[in-house]
Amino acid sequence: MAAYEYETHDYDVVVVGAGGAGLRATLGMAEQGLRTACVTKVFPTRSHTVAAQGGIAASLSNMGPDHWQWHMYDTVKGSDWLGDTDAMEYLAREAPKAVYELEHYGVPFSRTEEGKIYQRPFGGHTTEFGEGPPVQRTCAAADRTGHAILHTLYGQSLKQKAEFYIEYFAIDLIMSEDGVCQGVVCWKLDDGTMHVFKAKMVVLATGGYGRAYFSATSAHTCTGDGNGMVARQGLPLQDMEFVQFHPTGIYGAGCLITEGARGEGGYLTNSEGERFMERYAPTYKDLASRDVVSRCMTMEIREGRGVGGDKDHIHLHLNHLPPEALHLRLPGISESARIFAGVDVTKEPIPVLPTVHYNMGGIPTNYWGEVINPTADDPDRIVPGLMAVGEAGCASVHGANRLGSNSLIDLVVFGRAAAIRAGQVVKAGAPIPDTNKASVQFAFDRFDGLRHAKGDVGTAELRLEMQKAMQADAAVFRTDKTLAEGVAKMQAVAGKMDDISVTDRSLIWNSDLMETLELTNLMPNALATIVGAEARKESRGAHAHEDYPDRDDANWRKHTIARVDGTNVDLSYRRVVTEPLTNQDEGGIDMKRIAPKARVY
Ligand code: FUM
Repeated sequence: MAAYEYETHDYDVVVVGAGGAGLRATLGMAEQGLRTACVTKVFPTRSHTVAAQGGIAASLSNMGPDHWQWHMYDTVKGSDWLGDTDAMEYLAREAPKAVYELEHYGVPFSRTEEGKIYQRPFGGHTTEFGEGPPVQRTCAAADRTGHAILHTLYGQSLKQKAEFYIEYFAIDLIMSEDGVCQGVVCWKLDDGTMHVFKAKMVVLATGGYGRAYFSATSAHTCTGDGNGMVARQGLPLQDMEFVQFHPTGIYGAGCLITEGARGEGGYLTNSEGERFMERYAPTYKDLASRDVVSRCMTMEIREGRGVGGDKDHIHLHLNHLPPEALHLRLPGISESARIFAGVDVTKEPIPVLPTVHYNMGGIPTNYWGEVINPTADDPDRIVPGLMAVGEAGCASVHGANRLGSNSLIDLVVFGRAAAIRAGQVVKAGAPIPDTNKASVQFAFDRFDGLRHAKGDVGTAELRLEMQKAMQADAAVFRTDKTLAEGVAKMQAVAGKMDDISVTDRSLIWNSDLMETLELTNLMPNALATIVGAEARKESRGAHAHEDYPDRDDANWRKHTIARVDGTNVDLSYRRVVTEPLTNQDEGGIDMKRIAPKARVY
């Protein structure tokens, strides 16, 4: 048994992660008088939300007619009918309120001539239930919207006296014997001390796991830590096979070029100079949904029409747009293109390639962010004391494919929802129960085992093996063969965790150990992704299965539930919520509008 001294902290709520969802939850909790701590492995304003460029979707109607029901319809269609209807209604209805709150908190949105929040077109966002032209729904602060939101929410959280524990790495959840979450065990990176945070509610806002792949727009910190902690407690992950490829990562570097670039009039061409999206998506063209555009780009490359010496990427043109417009609306990506592709966007196209960008799957929750551990009898059973929001959570609002700019709105709508719910279920100031000592000890033993690991495989080496396997076999297009190979490779890779080697045994700024802990989190994410994908015998949203090219609602309109134990992944399925929050006669959507149909753009 490993013996570590630790400091104990008592809070009403502990939020793990300080990206958009974590900060919005922290702020909302603190505003209601709950004693709130936010624990984060990076400085809050360095969280990955800072990299979100194009904007945040809400039907404000500042640039033309829009309606929350049109936004809901687009989200349902974007999800390829895998999203939960209640959560999608909640998102679309609450979005305008959540954006105006951000404005009042101080987010410096770009403005129209009349001083309203500027909104741009984004892929898959339309009018008239998909029958009208594209809508300008994505509220933007130039192309640095996530940056603006993150700084504002951090400042507001400090104003509300939320307490921040910065550069603390969360090792494991503390769970009672009867399945109540009681807190989290953390390691303070800069001085090596250990900390037990006790709380009546733990909110996981730890982001996605893009770094399970070789090429991703995600920061190196996106290692699915919350998902890993949940999996180690025997709790499930949901719909992990749905991994979004953003059409425009910079070729080679992987950095994001916002979809806002196409929203502002940019377009894609192949080696023949053809605007090929016109062939695949005649109505919305370059502004079709992301999964569709990524597949079309991949098909052009596969059919020999890629650009460059190796014909292995695509061109994104902005050089026809006025330089003043680029300077005003897209200054950040103009700089990224210069630094990472050596391209002057006013003169030349940017070389781009579909790049891993977002995880639709995550920890299953209801639309209040409460974590669900389904049983056959109760598909909606709640895990007391535990919430998950943002990319870590799966409400499921994005289903099989997320629309661009629905991520930032997801962060703030569901971060806010979690705070509202916590205000109802957490009693401020009431005593905090004792924590389960065995659960705390489990965290220290696991930490100590890795700290002293003397195997033969280095962390970086094993991580690379995992990333290459995922990149090759859980890709834009999948087949029975590639997925079966991917499962075998990933099981072999995950099996090597028992032979991991850590060479630095110190406790202060031990990046070797931290990256090993992160790898233990990435592994269950990667396994659940590839095993869930291998089992799903249909194509839906981001899961494009070439042996089963059609969506199969009769057999597969259901959520995958994956429980990971070592190298083993146990799969079961859970119903999709098809009931809305409000009926049509209460002002809700006409359900016939969102009935499943073929998804064309
Ligand atoms: O393209 C982008 O700016 C990314 C936005 C998003 O993923 O929502």
